[in-house]
Amino acid sequence: MVSACILYFSQTGNTEKVAYTIAGRFQGEGVDNVTLHLEDAADFPEAYEDSDIVGVGFPTFFGYPPPHVMKFIRRLKGKGRSAFVFTTYGGTTAGDSLFDAAMALSKRGFRVLGGLKVEAFDNYPQSIWLKINEGRPNEIDLARSEEFAARILKAHSERQGIEPEALASTNPFFIKNRGKPRKKTVGALREKVEGKVIFNKELCLFCETCKKSCPTKSITSGEAHPEFSWKCIDGMRCYQCVRVCPGKALLYEQPISDKEYKKLLKGIADTPEEKARAYIVP
Ligand SMILES: Cc1cc2nc3c(=O)[nH]c(=O)nc-3n(C[C@H](O)[C@H](O)[C@H](O)COP(=O)(O)O)c2cc1C
Ligand code: SF4
Ligand code: SF4
Repeated sequence: MVSACILYFSQTGNTEKVAYTIAGRFQGEGVDNVTLHLEDAADFPEAYEDSDIVGVGFPTFFGYPPPHVMKFIRRLKGKGRSAFVFTTYGGTTAGDSLFDAAMALSKRGFRVLGGLKVEAFDNYPQSIWLKINEGRPNEIDLARSEEFAARILKAHSERQGIEPEALASTNPFFIKNRGKPRKKTVGALREKVEGKVIFNKELCLFCETCKKSCPTKSITSGEAHPEFSWKCIDGMRCYQCVRVCPGKALLYEQPISDKEYKKLLKGIADTPEEKARAYIVP
């Protein structure tokens, strides 16, 4: 029996929905599979070290995979096994996220079966209140994810694969920056849209929900309230602490007006043709 392990990182559930949709199809096709949030992965290494197929899913952060996901991939051992990648993105650009993840998996000795990108609700703070891409992934997105899962299994059984380059973006910004350090490219995007987080101690319930949800463990317990190091994901804020704070003690200060923000997103957005390349398989 073929075995698969689907590893995913997800903060607001978009990528998780896609991960479980793929897992459901695998199950239906008789594949013995495990679906694991990246946070739990360290407890079950045998699940992804021994499976025939490894899938890695993540939200796109500024056009690339979140840096801690890349660090995880770079520790995996392929040994000729099959792998696939998937991302959810807020409908602006999935950038080179699939390409970077697939390339890293290929360098670790995996045969890349394909990649999938799914439009989803944009969970960046300013996008949340602008309700950008609300309602995605929808039924059509999830049906496409299922289709992708079936094609991945076919490619695995026929021992086919793709070159990571097939997943490279056609968006001019990402073509231009492909050879440059990712930190630099991400920095150029971040400086335009990254807002400050204001911590109001008076409103803090000291519930530590922020601490529990921080993917980088950069929040610690203080005497009467949490302490924030703001080291975050290679310095990049994911704003999960702000999203989950029930006491409104963490507030996001938007750096630019909604009009400017929308204009910025439009300026870097993927073309309809690029968005339509929802999945690439052999
Ligand atoms: C730090 C950060 C950066 C993001 N960058 C992008 C981006 O470059 N392009 C895009 O379309 N959406 C972007 N988004 C939106 C997320 O990719 C999208 O909402 C994703 O589906 C969230 O997945 P999750 O619910 O699994 O966490 C960004 C969100 C955050 C928090
Ligand atoms: S989630 Fe908000 S209220 Fe709870 S400890 Fe963190 S900052 Fe305070
Ligand atoms: S933004 Fe908040 S939740 Fe995200 S890494 Fe930084 S401290 Fe942690």
